[in-house]
Amino acid sequence: MELKKLILAPMAGVADGAMRTICVRHGAEFTVTEMVSAAAVYYKDKKTYRLAEITQAETPCAVQVFGHDPDIVAYAITALYEAAKIKPAAFDVNMGCPVKKVVRGGDGSALMRDIRLAERIISAAVKVSPVPVTVKMRAGFDKDSINAPELAKAAEAAGASALCVHGRTREDMYKQGTVRRGVIADVVKAVNIPVAANGDIFTAEDALSMLDETGAAAVAVARGALGNPFIFEEIRAALGKKDYTPPTDAERIEAAKEHIRLIVEEKGEKAGIPESRKHAAWYLKGMRGAAWARQTVNTVSTEADMIKILDRVSEGLTV
Ligand SMILES: Cc1cc2nc3c(=O)[nH]c(=O)nc-3n(C[C@H](O)[C@H](O)[C@H](O)COP(=O)(O)O)c2cc1C
Repeated sequence: MELKKLILAPMAGVADGAMRTICVRHGAEFTVTEMVSAAAVYYKDKKTYRLAEITQAETPCAVQVFGHDPDIVAYAITALYEAAKIKPAAFDVNMGCPVKKVVRGGDGSALMRDIRLAERIISAAVKVSPVPVTVKMRAGFDKDSINAPELAKAAEAAGASALCVHGRTREDMYKQGTVRRGVIADVVKAVNIPVAANGDIFTAEDALSMLDETGAAAVAVARGALGNPFIFEEIRAALGKKDYTPPTDAERIEAAKEHIRLIVEEKGEKAGIPESRKHAAWYLKGMRGAAWARQTVNTVSTEADMIKILDRVSEGLTV
């Protein structure tokens, strides 16, 4: 599988269709859905199926599944592929999620403690999937068990087409300064399939030094894209050694408005407006009037009122 260089990493509760669309519009070359429970697919949960829906505007997009039972993961991949109107470019298996509830269920990063089971899950996925299977992992479960290179080799042997490595352990959660680029480099050396490097990429310089230090084929950006889909254009410019002019506050606000419209289009006002509040706050971070806007967005429930608040920040009329 040829791995695209600029990837929007999966983010449950954040990187929905709207976020993926706006990131593609700003240069992301590959996106991934929020994680989808294989067990919930098995139990035919409608909401779960919706999480796996993608539109043309977000493609190429992988659907990410999580689970610990090889048969159920295989079932979910078959069922999701059949149900998909726009087919995913790949299925990504989550072996990195650190959330307590997920790990307790034996899913996500818990699989880094059981490489034989991880391998069986990947094999089962590869066997049924009509599209490539990729795997997202952390550096290891904790600092005493840094085993991403070992899991990577097992994943390759089981037929995975590409990997994404978040250079933290499960124990590190999201702590600043804990990304182990050396471990990502070890994974790159250990396998012949392409590897995306992930963790703490907030600027183009972060992306360039990550690629340089790890030898990875791609970078995956998660939190660096919050309120900042422009990061993909910024990285692309740096890769091409081109000048880059960061967006003005007015341009950032226009992107926020576009993002909110996409959320409402996808989910309607009732579900969409509460979700759009956090995105609005991320876009406005650091701007004059941001604190006022952050409070005020909580008091409105329509798209028109959200847009009005953003326009007021843009016009400097907030105080
Ligand atoms: C809010 C949030 C939700 C996330 N959800 C997922 C997920 O569903 N699947 C997954 O593999 N990783 C998930 N992650 C992890 C990110 O994909 C990424 O590995 C991690 O945030 C490190 O990258 P960053 O430093 O660029 O944020 C999530 C991260 C955040 C902050």
